Amino acid sequence: MKILMTLLNGTALTLFLSMVGSVYAQDIVVSEKDFTCIRDGHHIRNTFIRHSDPEKLKEAMRIFKDRVPDKEYPVGTFMQLVPFEVMVKHPREKFPDTNGWEFFALELSEQGAKIKSRGSKTVNFEGNACMSCHEPAAKFDFVCEKKHGCGSLPLDDKKIAEIQATDPRCPKK
Ligand code: HEC
Repeated sequence: MKILMTLLNGTALTLFLSMVGSVYAQDIVVSEKDFTCIRDGHHIRNTFIRHSDPEKLKEAMRIFKDRVPDKEYPVGTFMQLVPFEVMVKHPREKFPDTNGWEFFALELSEQGAKIKSRGSKTVNFEGNACMSCHEPAAKFDFVCEKKHGCGSLPLDDKKIAEIQATDPRCPKK
């Protein structure tokens, strides 16, 4: 009988853990080694996008390219405009104010990336909160591009391309 109870408890515990787990199951752990050369991502207009799962990458690229409104990017999506700033998608419960996006400010060298700050309240190179500009793009899951209502950057497309080309982590051409 005792053995039976133990077995049953074990089953109940496993069931409980898998239920708890399923809420956050999809989340990803992000560390410095995940931030490699910006050109490892796929380039659409001004942005580089990556995802470790090819199907989810396709989905993220489709949402971005077609500017699909009211649609969230898959958990695990990485986006970059400049080499030293990244948006990474977690489940929305993790950062409810940003639909789950975590903003990263990085310090880069040939050796790789160091995380200067991370979370939903990160500030950019000018000391402005990432979300202060990205917030108006709520209909596009806080992805700005040009016409989603975001605060504008003091950078034109040419300057953005120049900055992208300065990523010290990329192989020398
Ligand atoms: C002054 C306003 C402003 C601030 C502050 C800002 N951004 Fe942006 N961000 C923009 C604009 C505008 C674009 C679109 C640029 C384009 O595509 O030409 C953009 C684009 C991006 C993109 C590419 C995807 C997209 O949304 O178009 C990422 C990733 C990004 N920003 C991350 C960050 C991170 C991380 C921070 C903070 C460390 C940050 N941004 C702070 C205005 C801002």
